[in-house]
Amino acid sequence: MVKLVVVNRAGEAAEIEAEEGLSVMEAIRDGGFDELLALCGGCCSCATCHVHVDPAFWDQLSPMSEDENDLLDSSDKRNEFSRLSCQIKVEPAVAGLKVTIAEED
Ligand code: FES
Repeated sequence: MVKLVVVNRAGEAAEIEAEEGLSVMEAIRDGGFDELLALCGGCCSCATCHVHVDPAFWDQLSPMSEDENDLLDSSDKRNEFSRLSCQIKVEPAVAGLKVTIAEED
């Protein structure tokens, strides 16, 4: 299990234990955060799993694909630390990762 920290839209942080191999989106949803709609189920086609990554962890993440980048461009809430949580894998390399659920577009 890999520890993640999730901050909801009210600014409340909670620690969750995520199973390796899941996506961060799945881990957040399993952790009971219903703010993360993840409408496409993780196919990188909806951008409703948008999170802001704590800058301290940015370099630990695998690079984003062109599709993810294009999709994030459709969000007004994008910032330099935006990622789609369905595209981040839960793995030991991201232990302690802190993400904030982005505001709804
Ligand atoms: S769940 Fe749709 S893009 Fe991530």
